[in-house]
Amino acid sequence: MKPYFCMGIESTAHTFGASVASSDGKILSNVKKVFTTESGGMIPGEVAEHHVQVCGDILQKALDDAKVSIKDIKLVAYSQSPGLGHCLRVGAMCARAIAAINNIEIIGVNHCIAHLEIGRLVTKAKDPVLLYASGANTQIIAFEGGRYRIFGETLDIGIGNFIDTFARHMGLGFPGGPKIYELALKGKNFIQLPYTVKGMDVSFSGILTNLKDKFNSGKYSREDLAFSLQETAFAMLLEVSERAMAHCGKKELLLGGGVAANKRLQEMAKIMCEERGAEMFVPEMQFLTDNAAMIAWQGILEYNSGKRMKVEKAGINPYLRTDEIEVTWR
Ligand code: ATP
Ligand code: FE2
Repeated sequence: MKPYFCMGIESTAHTFGASVASSDGKILSNVKKVFTTESGGMIPGEVAEHHVQVCGDILQKALDDAKVSIKDIKLVAYSQSPGLGHCLRVGAMCARAIAAINNIEIIGVNHCIAHLEIGRLVTKAKDPVLLYASGANTQIIAFEGGRYRIFGETLDIGIGNFIDTFARHMGLGFPGGPKIYELALKGKNFIQLPYTVKGMDVSFSGILTNLKDKFNSGKYSREDLAFSLQETAFAMLLEVSERAMAHCGKKELLLGGGVAANKRLQEMAKIMCEERGAEMFVPEMQFLTDNAAMIAWQGILEYNSGKRMKVEKAGINPYLRTDEIEVTWR
């Protein structure tokens, strides 16, 4: 079959992205604009308004960068689940409009699975366990029994939000991840923190409170706290990842999500993998954080496997879980 072009649209949370990918696995463009605030969190209605403002330019730029006309697009894929309803709706609406006006096929995909599949595409990992460590999400996902199963996850906040919140508490700006990493390089003393692995799940809110108390006491340096935070939280993530690998008999670990950009997490993951004769993979930054290339590629995989969707049925599903998706492309 001659390669065709798919336009991907990402809008689960703060990122509005568009991308053009070809069905033979080339990412031709990957454009995004991220909603940010001076202080405070995201109000869904405001983020959605941001996406409405930027969507036209981003979609056009994705076509321009790829040097592809809308007439050459055969398929439009959008993030259908999970995410903020207000935000998902903007992406779905763009996709529907594009599909209806240009008579293009449409397909809605799951954002978490897309993180894993883009990792497989760009790193050549074949059948990895995915450690998906982003701001809002922390999940250990693997393909088992015909589905993508969540083997472990956070019981409260995501690892990135945990790190960013503690960074903000210490007076560091957003995003805190890179700043905590820099501080941790200068840390010398390991401070005992709660280590909360419960079965295959992890929890960060207790460690966050403990860290805040320790910082407020004035007895510990920021560097030592940052160092101990990373060593403790990353060991927890890798303990669960390793157990998932052992349980599934898988020999590959794939990192995904913005926190996977942390070099210490990468280093610890590499050591764990080497010790068990496994391989560690990490995609480049543009594919780690939320991006539309992964949505375009996921659309291609599903379309090629025979999945079809009617424009009028192309809705959203903010709470759909990873293991509810029927995997037709593997
Ligand atoms: P999702 O919707 O997938 O949960 P998200 O926006 O919540 O996405 P990401 O954008 O994937 O999350 O990741 C954001 C997190 O990554 C933040 O906690 C941020 O501090 C962290 N981060 C980003 N870059 C780096 C870096 N270079 N080193 C360490 N941490 C980083
Ligand atoms: Fe994401």
